[in-house]
Amino acid sequence: MPPQEAATGDGAAPQDRAVWIFGYGSLIWKPDFEFTSRRVGFIRGYCRRFWHGDNHYRGDKRTPGRVVTLLEDAEADTWGVAYEVRDEAASSSLERLWRRECLLGGYVCRSVQFYGREAGAATPALVYVATADNPLYLGPAEPALIAWQIVGCSGHSGRNLDYLLRLADFMRRCCPHVEDPHLFAIEAAAVVLTSAPGSPPH
Ligand code: BEZ
Repeated sequence: MPPQEAATGDGAAPQDRAVWIFGYGSLIWKPDFEFTSRRVGFIRGYCRRFWHGDNHYRGDKRTPGRVVTLLEDAEADTWGVAYEVRDEAASSSLERLWRRECLLGGYVCRSVQFYGREAGAATPALVYVATADNPLYLGPAEPALIAWQIVGCSGHSGRNLDYLLRLADFMRRCCPHVEDPHLFAIEAAAVVLTSAPGSPPH
């Protein structure tokens, strides 16, 4: 079911309704839809991992890139950006995201609570998650191996390395108080590899 229907729920016309969409990967810097406001913050109960494969935007069929997905983890928060979309833009943005991420990419859309960086009440938001049953799913690996795969891939949106560096840059600039050992270990390994490329780690 397209998320617009899930988001409105009661069958009412979507006009005059606001929907929040939470991005924790490329949506942070490239939302590709119209929005009325943007807030940095986090969702609870998920951790972000470079465990999903991408054979189009940041990789290709032969060498899929690694992009982030979310895993349920009661102890974790994931930081990113939530976008408010309203009225006409809500229907068209959600329809486009549903087509691109769910129908073509195998992501599922989930409802979460979003907490803004500034204290305040939680806001319901939608988030796109790729699960382990997705054929592109790559799963866990050591940071050095993930970095090695990332450094060697690019796709229609550019280098997989730039995706990694942009995400790390966002976390450093906008959420400097947040620890993200998974992300920063992969970034550190990728930086080493770009200055001294070597053979794949074992
Ligand atoms: C994200 O940035 O949140 C995202 C982008 C594409 C698919 C799933 C999530």
